[in-house]
Amino acid sequence: MDGLDDLKATYLTAVATVQDEAALEELRVSALGKKGEISALMAGLDKMEPDQRKAAGAMLNVLKDEIDAALRAKKAGLSDAALDARLREEWLDVTLPGRPRPRGTIHPVSQVMEELTAIFADMGFAVAEGPQVESDWYNFDALNIPPEHPARQEHDTFFMHRDAGDARPPHVLRTHTSPVQIRAMTEQGAPIRVIAPGRVYRMDMDQTHTPMFHQVEGLAIDRDISMANLKWTLEEFCRAFFEVDKVELRFRASHFPFTEPSAEVDIRYSNVGGQLRIGEGDKWMEILGSGMVHPKVLAAAGVNPDEWQGFAFGMGIDRIAMLKYGIPDLRAFFESDLRWLRHYGFSAIDMPDLAGGLSS
Ligand code: DAH
Repeated sequence: MDGLDDLKATYLTAVATVQDEAALEELRVSALGKKGEISALMAGLDKMEPDQRKAAGAMLNVLKDEIDAALRAKKAGLSDAALDARLREEWLDVTLPGRPRPRGTIHPVSQVMEELTAIFADMGFAVAEGPQVESDWYNFDALNIPPEHPARQEHDTFFMHRDAGDARPPHVLRTHTSPVQIRAMTEQGAPIRVIAPGRVYRMDMDQTHTPMFHQVEGLAIDRDISMANLKWTLEEFCRAFFEVDKVELRFRASHFPFTEPSAEVDIRYSNVGGQLRIGEGDKWMEILGSGMVHPKVLAAAGVNPDEWQGFAFGMGIDRIAMLKYGIPDLRAFFESDLRWLRHYGFSAIDMPDLAGGLSS
């Protein structure tokens, strides 16, 4: 059979020079495919004499095997090269130091809210919420602060926009968390035990006042709750919150329209060289207002004052955060200075709870 050497040379050269797997596959088809050259020659064997056929068939088989082997070897070579190229491209230096990510922290106010929620939850208080844009009825009237009452002026209220000629009183940015007392009692009735932490607003700005600050309201209504329960609850709270055995609270007679009697509560602390310590020293810081809920307030929320009574308090969250964590200036709380946040912020992974420790 003539020409087989040429055929072999042509294919082997082509296989040697081919550059990619697609072209190699084309070569395979044109040589060994059903309609390929070798297959055509094989088909021609039928017309030969038996002797001739045997010799030619053997030669064709050898040629076929040679070309097949060359194709396979080339294919393996090409796919190795492709893998090498990919590995080179996707190479990763695992010894490189990781890129530092911006590290977020929990703001002291959020931390303190979690801490106090954990403590009051342990005493059986649920969390209640109310809107920050509040109607003037919830913020004032329902709390026994009628329109002409001087307490309205003392609150330095931010009023929402009102169209000229609108007779209704404007909504306000709530000046305290006390309206949540009304909302919670209206929704749930009595008995009830809730706290309501959140933002409040007043037009005021100096080292200890910002136009937005945080309070937590407390409310406990039942058949025979007294001032003694209030005192125990607050002392127990302070002991747990400040994580010290000894806390000393001072109850001062005061006046709020929504409580009768009313008391403001101060906590004993010392300030030695800017270091604040709770439970010692000769300084007092006011941390909250409190009292027995006024019968008119219960009635405004649909709770019968002849049947139910209880205490309420409103505590400054930012104040107790400053005291516990020794943060001197309130304004820095809301300046979003990353250095301040990194210094005073808390890890996002440690959720405060009483069993695992509040602030550790
Ligand atoms: N709402 C008062 C304030 O912001 C604080 C307060 C006083 C809340 C007495 C109370 C309370 O619940 O009983 O100044």
